Amino acid sequence: MSAPLLVVDDLSIRYGSARRAPVRAVEHVSFQVGPGEIVALVGESGCGKSTTALAIMGLLPETASVAGRIELGGRSLVGLPEDELRDLRGRSVGMVFQDPLTSLDPSFPIGDQIAAAIRAHGGSGPQARRRALELLAEVGIPAPEQRYGDPPHRFSGGMRQRVVIAAAIANNPALLLADEPTTALDVTIQAQILALLRTLRDTHGTGILLIAHDLGVVAQLADRVGVMYAGQLVETGPVAAIFAAPRHPYTRALLAAQPTGGQRAGTLQVIEGQVPDLAAPPPGCRFAPRCPLVHEACSLVPPLADDGTGHGVACWATDQTRAAGAGILAGVAAAPTVPSAAPAASAGGPL
Ligand SMILES: Nc1ncnc2c1ncn2[C@@H]1O[C@H](COP(=O)(O)OP(=O)(O)OP(=O)(O)O)[C@@H](O)[C@H]1O
Ligand SMILES: [Mg+2]
Repeated sequence: MSAPLLVVDDLSIRYGSARRAPVRAVEHVSFQVGPGEIVALVGESGCGKSTTALAIMGLLPETASVAGRIELGGRSLVGLPEDELRDLRGRSVGMVFQDPLTSLDPSFPIGDQIAAAIRAHGGSGPQARRRALELLAEVGIPAPEQRYGDPPHRFSGGMRQRVVIAAAIANNPALLLADEPTTALDVTIQAQILALLRTLRDTHGTGILLIAHDLGVVAQLADRVGVMYAGQLVETGPVAAIFAAPRHPYTRALLAAQPTGGQRAGTLQVIEGQVPDLAAPPPGCRFAPRCPLVHEACSLVPPLADDGTGHGVACWATDQTRAAGAGILAGVAAAPTVPSAAPAASAGGPL
C-alpha cells in the first residue's frame, strides 16, 4: 500500500466556553486517507464531522483546543503557524464547505473567484484566467467563456456547487475535503456532483474525505467509511463490508433509518433519543443511552477493535471488542478504587 496522504491519529478537539464545560466535539479519532482513496465520515448532526474537517484545514476557531496528530504528506499540521497553514490550504488541501452559499462572494464574477484562488498561490493574471476557464469546463459548466463573468446568483444550486468544487481543486490539491457536498441538491444533480468527485479521483488521484449524512451517497462513492457518534468513531472499514454486515448498533440504526429505492417514508425506523450534550457526554460508550443492547460493560469506553480485515467496531456487544477489551475489563475488576461497572443508562427504545 502506498504511504497515506492524510493521517489523523488520536485526534481530540474541545471547544472552550467561559460559561460552561468545554464541548468534547471529537475524542480519540484515528483514520487515514490514501492517494486516490475516498473515505467517508458519516453520523448524525453534531457528531463532530465538520469539526474534524476544520481541524485538518487549520480553520478551527480560537476557542478550540486540539490534541493528537494530523499529518498531510508526512508533514505535521497541528500547531503549524498560520502563514504555513494558509499556504497549505488551497495548494495541498482543498475544501468544499458545508454551506455552498457562504463559500462564494455574491458580488463577484465566479471566474474571478476561481482565478483568485489560483493567484493566491502564485499564478499570474492571464495564467489564472486560462486555468479558471479550464476548471469551469472540467466541472461541467457549459460555455465557460460566457459564464466566466456571471455572479453566483445567475447559477442554479447544482452549478454553484460545481463552481465551489472548481475553486477547491484549482491548485490540484492532493486532498479534497468535501463537507456535505450534495445535501442541498436534488437527486439528479446530486448524482452529477458525485460523478464529478469520482472523476476527480480517477483522473488526478485526489484523495477525498467525504462528509455525509446520507449513507446512499457514501455507498455510491466511498471506498472506506468511518461512522461517528457523538464525537467518537464507532465503526470503520470498507464500505462494502459495513453495508453488508454492520456491527455497531448505531451503524445498524443509521442504515435502518435510510430511505432505499421505493421505500415509503413511513417504513423507515427512526433512531430514538438524541445525540448527547457533548459538554456532558455519558461516561463509557456514548451510544449507551440509546442502545437496545446496553449492559454493564457499556459504562466503560469500548476500544475500536479491528478484526484484521480493516473492519473495526467499538461495541462491547461484539466478540471482537470483548476480546480486545479483556485487559481493560480485567483491570477495572481488579482495581479496588473503581466502583463496579454499573449500567450507563437504562435500555433505550427500539432502533
Ligand atoms: N464553534 C463552535 N463552538 C462551540 N461548539 C461548537 C462549535 N462548532 C461546533 N460545535 C459543537 O461541536 C459538536 C460537533 O459539531 P460539528 O459541527 O462538528 O458536527 P457535524 O457532525 O458536522 O454536524 P452536522 O451534520 O450538523 O453538520 C456539536 O456539539 C456542536 O454544537
Ligand atoms: Mg457539519
